[in-house]
Amino acid sequence: MNSRIAVSSARRASQRLIQRTTPDETTTHFGFKTVPEAQKESLVRGVFSNVASNYDIMNDAMSMGIHRLWKDHLIRKMSPSPDAKLLDVAGGTGDIAQRFLEFQDQGEPGQRVDAWARAEKRFAASKWMREGRIGFTVGNAENLEFIDDASFDVYTIAFGIRNCTHPDRVVREAFRVLKPGGRFMCLEFSRVENPVLASLYDFHSFHVIPRLGELIANDRGSYEYLVESIRKFPPQKEFAQMIRDAGFTTIGKGYENLTFGTVAIHTGYKF
Ligand SMILES: C[S@@+](CC[C@H](N)C(=O)[O-])C[C@H]1O[C@@H](n2cnc3c(N)ncnc32)[C@H](O)[C@@H]1O
Repeated sequence: MNSRIAVSSARRASQRLIQRTTPDETTTHFGFKTVPEAQKESLVRGVFSNVASNYDIMNDAMSMGIHRLWKDHLIRKMSPSPDAKLLDVAGGTGDIAQRFLEFQDQGEPGQRVDAWARAEKRFAASKWMREGRIGFTVGNAENLEFIDDASFDVYTIAFGIRNCTHPDRVVREAFRVLKPGGRFMCLEFSRVENPVLASLYDFHSFHVIPRLGELIANDRGSYEYLVESIRKFPPQKEFAQMIRDAGFTTIGKGYENLTFGTVAIHTGYKF
């Protein structure tokens, strides 16, 4: 599908939805727009189907390649044991799953990864696929009903949770599917606290990123949504509290800022 057509239809859809919203209807945000809660999931799905073909190149362009370092850091911080079993939710093109398996292969052959993604293509010819060490599922992070309680050692969600309608439900589901002793790790865009850096970051977000979206992916609208969704996601401390409210224990403040808080890794332990 031509991405420009898809974006403009997503925009028209959200405008129609705003008009139809009545005062007693439950609403939520879709970027800076207010939409009926029931519509958000399909609007987000529209954005990711628009950006899918340019996803990897746009990630590199928007972050100047730094997203690779953030993801490398996440896996080093996790340091999974050779037999750790990972559920990578909102896995996209499989960046986290790939790094996890590579890390495990530095030791003994490891356990299986379940990547919540359409990343089969990337792994189709890999030895991990042949060895049955990776599987894929498509669904909603807010409801993992077909995953048993207490079945994973680590749960990761990278740049995914802010797109979910109810991030608190996502975290509660993570708590349920983790084994006792298991770990929740979330890599997500967050808040830059230094005011000077924050204004530079705002310029990059609101001017450079949509323009890159237009030039590289012929799709300004989806990248405007991505930038707006970052601003609507709770800041570091509030999200850390949401993680504790779901039952997790955090160590210290519960998060680590990277690149001045552009992104943060939140970690929760299920004890
Ligand atoms: C920005 S991408 C991140 C991909 C990958 N984790 C990475 O870091 O490169 C966000 C992913 O979240 C997925 N997603 C959006 N809403 C979701 C939901 N409610 N449940 C599960 N996945 C969702 C999208 O399909 C997309 O693959």
